[in-house]
Amino acid sequence: MRMYDILQKKKRGEVLSREEIRFFVEGYTKGEIPDYQASAWLMAVCLKGMTDRETADLTIAMAQSGDMLDLSSIEGVTVDKHSTGGVGDKTSLIVIPILASLGLKAAKMSGRGLGHTGGTIDKLESIPGFCTELKQEAFLKAVQTTGAAIVSQTGNLVPADKKLYALRDVTATVESIPLIASSIMSKKLAAGAQCILLDVKTGSGAFMKDLEESRKLARTMVEIGRHAGRKTGALITDMGRPLGYAIGNSLEVIEACETLRGKGPIDLTEVSIRLAAGLLELSGFSKGEEAYERVKLQIQNGQAFAKWKEMVMAQGGDVSFIENPDKFPKADKTASLLSDREGYILSMDTEKCGVASVELGAGRERKGDPIDPYAGILLRKKPGDFVRKGEILAELFFAEKVNPAAAEKTLLEAYRFGDAVPAIPPLVYESIM
Ligand code: URA
Repeated sequence: MRMYDILQKKKRGEVLSREEIRFFVEGYTKGEIPDYQASAWLMAVCLKGMTDRETADLTIAMAQSGDMLDLSSIEGVTVDKHSTGGVGDKTSLIVIPILASLGLKAAKMSGRGLGHTGGTIDKLESIPGFCTELKQEAFLKAVQTTGAAIVSQTGNLVPADKKLYALRDVTATVESIPLIASSIMSKKLAAGAQCILLDVKTGSGAFMKDLEESRKLARTMVEIGRHAGRKTGALITDMGRPLGYAIGNSLEVIEACETLRGKGPIDLTEVSIRLAAGLLELSGFSKGEEAYERVKLQIQNGQAFAKWKEMVMAQGGDVSFIENPDKFPKADKTASLLSDREGYILSMDTEKCGVASVELGAGRERKGDPIDPYAGILLRKKPGDFVRKGEILAELFFAEKVNPAAAEKTLLEAYRFGDAVPAIPPLVYESIM
């Protein structure tokens, strides 16, 4: 088999065999296929697409390119959730303890912030002492005893994705449904859970800005999961506005704590409940309205928050910060962003909100850059709110050395104003279960 012939075939839009896909994935992971041929292959896939069968074969070959986590030693139903990435999306910090408090086993591997989107690992690391790098044995033990653990992806999990993702990033081949679906699902399959719920974000702050494209991505990923024998579902949720009011790592942890105590923002609470209920349904615990009410009760009766404290303690975090979020250090400086006009906020360019928080130091411009755990934004106004000129739109938090001017400009540009009360889009567009 020759890579050259595989490239010719994909260039003509022909369907590749399982063996050809495996030849590419294995060859590229081992370094036998060079970056220039892999780049040509990625571009051909972007332009010509892949069938569902090709996409499933690609995902499985990628998942098997490194270690596959074996969760069979864990008693009970193992569950995992994954968000395609958003701004202010701290739902994992809420959903995982809820599920563990209901007896499910959540073994979650998460990532760091990517571009304008935040990452669960960065958020957790803002809790003093919280360790996100557990050895496999300690990770499995934590899941077995506490019911949940969240760690960063370990060394040799899906090496094919690590190489391909880095190449896609620099060859303009990120936006392709088969490539995004295989990248995400290969990591979910390798992480081993029996039930997988995908939170596919749609709108101005998501990687997929268009609802129809988000639907296609969600369906493709659900098909892959089911093809691989996992109970898989998806919710398509709105990222046309930030979720909750907090953007930035410790600020988001504080908001997640409030939500687990039943005092969180309505949108964040609702999406978190729907996600947790979706996983209850996939795992066969309960369905529909009953699942929704069970999850809600876990927040009301304090069990979800108690489980969150247990999780933080089990991973070495200082629980006193969770009990009393006022203990989180404040960023060196704060500034208020004032409205330069009067009117209703019609919508927000949510990607710009994410970019503004990166500009304040909450995210990275480049891989490996340090971040400021206390930097970020607390929105005071969101779509649907009426604002007077000079009123506070948001508060910005940043370090002494940061000039907030760029972030202020970016964030102000994110707001779109008008004279009429706007129609607010739904929080959940579709559920694929
Ligand atoms: N997240 C991933 O893990 N992979 C992609 O391709 C896009 C988002």
